Amino acid sequence: MSDTIESALHENRHFPPPADFVANARLKPEEAEALYRKAEEDHEGFWCDLAREKITWHREFSVGLDDSQAPHYAWFTDGRMNVSYNCIDRHLDTRGDKPAIIFEGENGDTRTYTYRDLYHEVGKLANGLRASGVRKGDRVVIYMPMIAEAVIAMQACARIGAVHSVVFGGFSADALRDRIDNSGAEVMITADGGTRGGRVVSLKKTADKALDICSGTVRKVIVCKRAGNEVNMTEGRDVWWQDLVADQPVDCEPEWVESEHPLFLLYTSGSTGKPKGIQHASAGYLLNTIITNEWVFDLHDEDIFWCTADVGWITGHSYVAYGPLAVGATQVVYEGVPTVPDGGRWWQMCQAHGVTVFYTAPTAIRALMKLGDEIPAEYDLSKLRLLGTVGEPINPEAWMWYYRTIGGERCPIVDTWWQTETGAHMIAPLPSVTTLTPGSCTRPLPGIVADVVNEEGESLGPDQGGFLVIKKPWPSMLRTVWQDDHRYKSTYWPKFDGKYYLAGDSARRDPDGNFWIMGRIDDVLNVSGHRLGTMEIESALVAHEAVAEAAVVGRPHDVKGEAIVAFVILKGERPTGAAAEEMVKALREWVSEHIGPIAKPDDIRFADGLPKTRSGKIMRRLLRSIAKGEEITSDTSTLENEAVVAQLQGKA
Ligand code: WT7
Repeated sequence: MSDTIESALHENRHFPPPADFVANARLKPEEAEALYRKAEEDHEGFWCDLAREKITWHREFSVGLDDSQAPHYAWFTDGRMNVSYNCIDRHLDTRGDKPAIIFEGENGDTRTYTYRDLYHEVGKLANGLRASGVRKGDRVVIYMPMIAEAVIAMQACARIGAVHSVVFGGFSADALRDRIDNSGAEVMITADGGTRGGRVVSLKKTADKALDICSGTVRKVIVCKRAGNEVNMTEGRDVWWQDLVADQPVDCEPEWVESEHPLFLLYTSGSTGKPKGIQHASAGYLLNTIITNEWVFDLHDEDIFWCTADVGWITGHSYVAYGPLAVGATQVVYEGVPTVPDGGRWWQMCQAHGVTVFYTAPTAIRALMKLGDEIPAEYDLSKLRLLGTVGEPINPEAWMWYYRTIGGERCPIVDTWWQTETGAHMIAPLPSVTTLTPGSCTRPLPGIVADVVNEEGESLGPDQGGFLVIKKPWPSMLRTVWQDDHRYKSTYWPKFDGKYYLAGDSARRDPDGNFWIMGRIDDVLNVSGHRLGTMEIESALVAHEAVAEAAVVGRPHDVKGEAIVAFVILKGERPTGAAAEEMVKALREWVSEHIGPIAKPDDIRFADGLPKTRSGKIMRRLLRSIAKGEEITSDTSTLENEAVVAQLQGKA
């Protein structure tokens, strides 16, 4: 991350909003100013006004913020509504025939769903779920490829008040098992398989493996036929989605839930070995996804929006499955990877579907940038008018490439800082207002009170690095960690008398007041925009019979942001040569099986021991230096076992 800070400190390019963009923007500069003013004067009233304006209520609320159980905050508590109704039904009169989802498979098959089509598909599945005994509050695990049915499944759960827990299709059986068991899901929705990178990923096979080893709460598995690969169907438990919905009526009365009713759980990594189930509520979550799609993405009725994230991540929840639909947008959903059949796939799709607003991650931008300017130059990208990024700080070089080569120097770039826990964008440009600086996510949105503070919670001045905190509750904040209030409190509210939300990032503000994210303060890695806990990977490694001890750290990587480096101590002798190579291969495979391919260490080093202080603490800072290949200048003689440093460096 230090390279990012270094370049950021010297960044002095500024990009004010283009005049024609401002002229057509949903949010005019004077309106934005009024929003900021209102939020400052009356934080609760600001959010209540928006909630009344943006959400269609079944029963109006009278309570804005309930902070009586702080740090568990609740919003609009006595209101009732339904998220799926807000995403679909309320558009039927005005946008029934408007495309909601333009789906494209990796093999090139396409299907467009209008809002009315979505109403039908969601209604049928929701009825099918009800017929299968799924009731309000029941958990449903969704383990799907990135196809329109994944969105339909999420919407169907929301429609009947079931709480979905989407597990990314790239996660392994073990990771899926952990998430099923923790959530206590009774039903799983999956698919035979999906296509990624030219290969069929057999999701049902992995799901079966997970179900074999999990504690047995799942009684029904709904399998969408997609890839056509062969699968085993367990009699009495497994049913084809297509069969389940065949006789179901399309109309499905929504379950009118209270605002705080949990909409979903989404598991994410933290500093311990086990991922935590981030729990989001219904109305508050919906509200922030709506306003950010309007304010940050400036979505108009004519726009074609494309967020490339998978629904397995929060970005795919807020900016694919919910937000764009709630504002009545048309969006592209794509199943595959950006490089099939070649590195022009995304640009070809932008051209073919006339994409106007495009949202992706810096890691993807860097990977495509490496392929050269000639590829995007072959396509007509002139419809694009706004670009966005998320997941990690974007290095100014990648920002400039995105701006010039993809955006034709015409499109503002919104660098959006937020987290699984925050539900929606928190610090991000308002493209009609904000002057952009490559590498900075700029300013907190209206109503978001972000600050950079020291250990004592005092605000820091320009260019001083500190803890990124949010000082006032906001509607889409996480409500708790599923069935673990203690972890919720100790992770997010451990400092500052429990008054400020601790984001887990360090940041600084520049003299203009722009925020710069510097990196995580905990043992969490950011690999290709995905969050991975070092402890999680370490636990997977030590679960291997040959491994005695392991420590995992990150190292800067030019495409992924961070690469994973594992230092491993085996039970037997330290392997060398071909034996070491074999072991590296086996351990990489092992981690891939236990967590998923994204968690595979890039580099594995063996030694006779880990560098520890005399009191037994692993010297992680030293490991990070070794991983980077830095010269070790610090005195290592206080180490309990100095000799291992040379082994880990590969010098002995
Ligand atoms: C962490 C959250 C939010 C969806 C994707 C990741 C990092 C996210 C930015 C950005 C710098 C960013 C932070 C954050 N992050 N967006 N624009 N600039 N850093 O969600 O897995 O919950 O990870 O991603 O470190 O805490 P997530």
